[in-house]
Amino acid sequence: MAKKLFIKTYGCQMNSYDSARMADVLAPLGYVSSETPDGADMVILNTCHIREKASEKVYSELGRLRHLKENRSASDAGMVIAVAGCVAQAEGEEILRRAPYVDIVLGPQTYHRLPEMVARATRAADGVGGAAGHGRGVLDTEFPVSNKFDHLPGESAPQGVSAFLSVQEGCDKFCTFCVVPYTRGAEFSRPVDQVLAEARRLVDQGAREITLLGQNVNAYHGLDERDGEVGLGRLMERLSDIEGLARLRYTTSHPRDMDDELIAAHGALDAVMPYLHLPVQSGSDRVLAAMNRRHTAQSYRDTIAALRQARPDIALSSDFIVGFPGETDTDFEATLDLIRDVEFAQAYSFKYSVRPGTPAGTLDDQVPEPAKDERLAVLQGLLRDQQNAFNAASVGQTMTVLFERAGRHADQLVGRSPYNQAVHVAAPNDRIGSLADVRIDSCLAHSLGGVLTENPGFALEGPAIEVAEGVGV
Ligand code: SAH
Ligand code: SF4
Ligand code: F3S
Repeated sequence: MAKKLFIKTYGCQMNSYDSARMADVLAPLGYVSSETPDGADMVILNTCHIREKASEKVYSELGRLRHLKENRSASDAGMVIAVAGCVAQAEGEEILRRAPYVDIVLGPQTYHRLPEMVARATRAADGVGGAAGHGRGVLDTEFPVSNKFDHLPGESAPQGVSAFLSVQEGCDKFCTFCVVPYTRGAEFSRPVDQVLAEARRLVDQGAREITLLGQNVNAYHGLDERDGEVGLGRLMERLSDIEGLARLRYTTSHPRDMDDELIAAHGALDAVMPYLHLPVQSGSDRVLAAMNRRHTAQSYRDTIAALRQARPDIALSSDFIVGFPGETDTDFEATLDLIRDVEFAQAYSFKYSVRPGTPAGTLDDQVPEPAKDERLAVLQGLLRDQQNAFNAASVGQTMTVLFERAGRHADQLVGRSPYNQAVHVAAPNDRIGSLADVRIDSCLAHSLGGVLTENPGFALEGPAIEVAEGVGV
């Protein structure tokens, strides 16, 4: 009989990808994804450790799940609770101590072993032994020598028109504020043939756009069929040969790894969208050095200039941290200057959050919370103005839109512009999965509206595409 699996995903796109793959790993055991935790036979929280707020959410969610688990009748098999992802990796033992009703704690690099963890946890619950038999859940947060990608089954459900594909994992950069090198482990690139095979399967299942993922995706250096090392630019060149794949994106990149070949790919490959998320964090060289970012504000400006030369219509997005230890008003002004110079189409910004085990957490010149609040408000005001200006400038333009899903009204579709803006257009449902030229005629806070041009030139129409439901979020 089918068992219900509910996965709740926090954090970045890599976690979304991992959640889908965990569902794939559990599918052969009879688990079918469900939309709610009610009545679920297994619940996985796929967690994020990046900022304090993100990781604290886990314990409140676990509290709610505890009630659901306790309310299950003793006659059925009960509910298996698993905590996966980056909090699990960082605080495995602590989770089992604070929430002893958790059955499994697993890290981001071990989920291919979920079937045996489930078997151990349920054996233990039946009183046959196993780790939980000693009053402890199953804990598997190693960094195994053999990587998970070599052990994952095929995709059990299509991701839809726009799909994620992890090509790189982990991080060796050790920015002083960041937990990722500790939670995800050492940097690793998947071989080219494995990436190409997965991309072809995604396209066969209806994907028209693939976003390549990695904590440091532009540090990609996978081996090709002749054991030569291939960078991200060359990988995208190979991917752009796949018939039916119209668009490529990648995230998240580090400014240090924007090499010439990758910048050139933005100019040379039509499939690579003219939109790049390139986190800079700060515009002050003093702060960038203390963060161990290993680039300067000027080298970032130079990289942007080179990208704009290769692809004049490229739009930029970024991440910012305000209130890093020791950040002065002058440092903060330098960040605002950089934002004014570059002009971003979109951005994420955060108050610095002390993370356990990271070097910056122990610095004693922490910025007081009110100063962080004030700087964040100013920074976000400026970024919002830039985003609004970018969206307003889209009105009147004709853009190619990839239709992803049905809109709220009948015969209305939602698609994405090359700049990743959501665009609402009146068009029939059978156009999902195709590209068409759209004249943008309106601009709201978070989306654009448009009409099909007289000759929209629908492209990529093909067999009906089944659109996947989002993964448990
Ligand atoms: N690999 C990416 C970032 C991944 S984390 C890069 O190198 O840029 C996503 C974003 O979270 C970061 O870009 C940073 O802006 C933010 N972040 C990471 N650690 C943080 C912390 N301790 N406090 C506040 N924001 C943080
Ligand atoms: Fe974190 Fe820096 Fe690595 Fe990005 S590059 S994941 S910010 S340590
Ligand atoms: Fe969070 Fe881990 Fe991603 S800490 S941002 S889920 S890599």
